[in-house]
Amino acid sequence: MTFKIQAAERLTQLPPYLFAEIDRLKREARAQGKDIIDLGVGDPDIPTPPMIIQELERASRDPQNHRYALDQGLPELRRAIAEWYKKRFSVTLDPEKEVLPLIGSKEGIAHMPLTVVNAGDVVLIPDPGYPPYRSGTLFAGGVPSFMPLTEENAFLPDLKEIDPAVLKKTKMMFLNYPNNPTAACAPKAFFDETVKFAEKHGILICHDAAYSEISFDGYRPPSFLEVKGAKEVAIEFHSLSKTFNMTGWRIGFAAGNAEAIRLLAKVKSNIDSGIFQAIQYAGIKALREGEPETLKNIKIYEERRNVLVDGMKNLGWNVRSPQATFYVWAPVPPGYTSAEISMKFLQDAGIVVTPGNGFGMNGEGYFRMAITVPKERIQQALDRVKKMGHGQGAK
Ligand SMILES: Cc1ncc(COP(=O)(O)O)c(C=O)c1O
Repeated sequence: MTFKIQAAERLTQLPPYLFAEIDRLKREARAQGKDIIDLGVGDPDIPTPPMIIQELERASRDPQNHRYALDQGLPELRRAIAEWYKKRFSVTLDPEKEVLPLIGSKEGIAHMPLTVVNAGDVVLIPDPGYPPYRSGTLFAGGVPSFMPLTEENAFLPDLKEIDPAVLKKTKMMFLNYPNNPTAACAPKAFFDETVKFAEKHGILICHDAAYSEISFDGYRPPSFLEVKGAKEVAIEFHSLSKTFNMTGWRIGFAAGNAEAIRLLAKVKSNIDSGIFQAIQYAGIKALREGEPETLKNIKIYEERRNVLVDGMKNLGWNVRSPQATFYVWAPVPPGYTSAEISMKFLQDAGIVVTPGNGFGMNGEGYFRMAITVPKERIQQALDRVKKMGHGQGAK
């Protein structure tokens, strides 16, 4: 007789991974022969720019790159990251000590709690929020404590509302602006307030800036590290995924506090063996020469955003135009839950949207649409929404 494999508690504590569940429903609908318009997962549909692919091709032919990569990334990649930061945010980073390449920012985010969190320590997490903040915390034996992001507070956590008893046990806080899923942006004044708060309470801030480059109407989101004193208390995560349409390549980086970077590098050196070097060279190319490509993409997203937001508004839906990210975060019409309206979109209109509650309790009452499909497809989605009905109370 074989024994029964039992999942560890750290796994059973987790809710089903949101996107896996949506994928399953999507596959089911497709298997039934339905034409599905996917506004669910935020994965750019536009290909990686050819010059980045060419650099991968070149570097992949060099046998030097076929071996284990350096854990800390190529020195040239770390320099390219520091140069990019300087140019984009006017922040000076030491490429040796304050920069760390990652196998995608998700990898670094999920491993980050292993650096400073002991069993029972609290990690403050935005709710709604990107799911790995919570799973990474649980894997490290930490206790997630959720900071509600509400519309009344412009989807910024109210630091004054955090229970002092919780603060005593808090080691880390995750933040994410421009925000997934709410698309909210944070003013620098909020980052300022957070730095002071972190200093006072001894909390390491982990700011996820994966969407810092996807912004509209001329707005340029700030880096957390631009704020005075930030480097004393914070580490920031960036991704090449969204900026250069490289989600499948798995390359991102962390920057900021040297000790936090050192600890994350230590964790990683026990888990992975770096990023394929040819991809690192492609990343260098992207960081040094990719800006015009990003600007082109932004124009495309901006147009799609306008089509979706204007179209939904014309149909009577209450949606706001995001200043950044490729998400539209919309309130659910009265009479529905997030899950019910998402199911209605899928069943009545063949459209995948993401129910807000999948991002946490405070996401209930909202749903998220990603503008990662061509504008003709968005127009088609709007036609279907029109047929589906106005939504407001039309259960
Ligand atoms: C808020 C946020 N952070 C990080 C990531 C991860 O990006 P990557 O691991 O591709 O760098 C995502 C991806 O969807 C995200 O939405």
